[in-house]
Amino acid sequence: MFTRRVAVVGTGYVGLTTGACLASLGHQVVCADIDTAKVERLRRGVVDIVEPGLAELVTEQVSAGRLSFVVGAANAVSEGFPGESGSGELDAEIVFLCLPTPMGVGGVADLRAVEAVVEETRELLAAGTVVVNKSTVPVGTAGRTAELLDRADVSVVSNPEFLREGSAVHDFLNPDRIVVGCDTAEAAERVAALYARLGAPTVLTDAASAELMKYAANCFLAMKLSYVNAMAELCERVGADIGDVTEGIGYDRRIGQAFLSPGPGWGGSCLPKDTHALLQVADAADFEFRLLRATIDTNTRQRQRIVDKVRHAVTGRRTGSLTRVRLGLLGLTFKAGTDDLRDSPALAIAALLRQAGADLVGYDPALVPDPSNPDKIAADEVDGVPLVSDPMEAAQGAEALVVLTEWPVFRTLDWVAIAGAMKQPIVVDTRNLLDPATLRRAGLTGIGLGRREA
Ligand code: UGA
Repeated sequence: MFTRRVAVVGTGYVGLTTGACLASLGHQVVCADIDTAKVERLRRGVVDIVEPGLAELVTEQVSAGRLSFVVGAANAVSEGFPGESGSGELDAEIVFLCLPTPMGVGGVADLRAVEAVVEETRELLAAGTVVVNKSTVPVGTAGRTAELLDRADVSVVSNPEFLREGSAVHDFLNPDRIVVGCDTAEAAERVAALYARLGAPTVLTDAASAELMKYAANCFLAMKLSYVNAMAELCERVGADIGDVTEGIGYDRRIGQAFLSPGPGWGGSCLPKDTHALLQVADAADFEFRLLRATIDTNTRQRQRIVDKVRHAVTGRRTGSLTRVRLGLLGLTFKAGTDDLRDSPALAIAALLRQAGADLVGYDPALVPDPSNPDKIAADEVDGVPLVSDPMEAAQGAEALVVLTEWPVFRTLDWVAIAGAMKQPIVVDTRNLLDPATLRRAGLTGIGLGRREA
């Protein structure tokens, strides 16, 4: 099989997954990070992020001699690969940039990390190297990167990643499609060939289209969710059930069953950042993207809607006071299967509840001490919400429990015991996760989103 020498700069969840998975496809991979302590942990096989299968894959590929870690991009791109003598003497053929592109001023993506790495490595790249941007970057960044590199003998390719946190390894190895954008066909084909074994449909296009495709996908997903959340609200008003409605529309293959669960609003490190960034792109292009603006506004409103639901459930009135009302929050991460709290709707709702005077206590299975990872320190509070290590503690004396993240473990809690510990037997289930009949049998009033019984 044809293998390449691949440098991956940045070992966040995209970079580390890319490095470990490309190694598992047979390529020789060197991953670089600026964080020395993190590199040392990775060399020992310690992966800080919660990502199923990733730590095992890293350990396996390191043992197989296909994956290694270095400090600094320069050490990965230049002479980071073993030659015939076995020592580091060969340069990278392909360099992946998997760097953070946080939301900067006014929603514009902040490209400083990408620019710094380009500056650090531009003179070290061997002739013929392909630089691949995997980070989500504004349209035009491949062109801008090429300008900064100022190397006619180096190509810049956009190869956006579509993996989800919490199933990154699975998504990488089972992609719906591979997108490679470059104005030089030869470089695009070289990058596409890295994934040949996966047998996925491949879209070869220009760099700008590839860059836009990533935003187009995430913004479409956000729009789908805002639509479902709005539809759930309409269901409540007309006495319909959102679960039945989404099941019914999901059988239409043009719509599909995936990504139709109502919730407390979409969050995480990608959808909020990318919707704002695309709005900026549209504004800069003098295009009033009303649909996207409404998608974002609907999501912001969803948080207040949850607060209003809790207020009504606890006080029986739309304007009732939440001052000193004790509430237990179940789930604080932005979705289940991750320990990521970035732009978590749960935390945004917690902030609104606190502003309304409520006393909060939170439980999240990803935020309790992990015996398998002693390097990880469990926090005792998040954004001012004190954390407890057991859902029963969250229920103790609470006037309502609010389920904010769809952790499957919540389904099988001892709801009878929980009902006994609460001051008022109310559960506001913002993920429609729990079985209403189970709650009822436990003596609890379950309030979901867009459900007939709500
Ligand atoms: C998202 C995209 O799904 C990936 O394809 C993309 O590669 C990634 O962003 C990225 O740009 O890197 P991720 O941020 O991991 O992945 O999260 P999702 O699984 O998409 O969930 C986003 C939000 O939507 C979460 O808050 C989640 O709880 C919410 N959601 C998702 C719902 O409320 N209902 C659903 O049915 C699905």
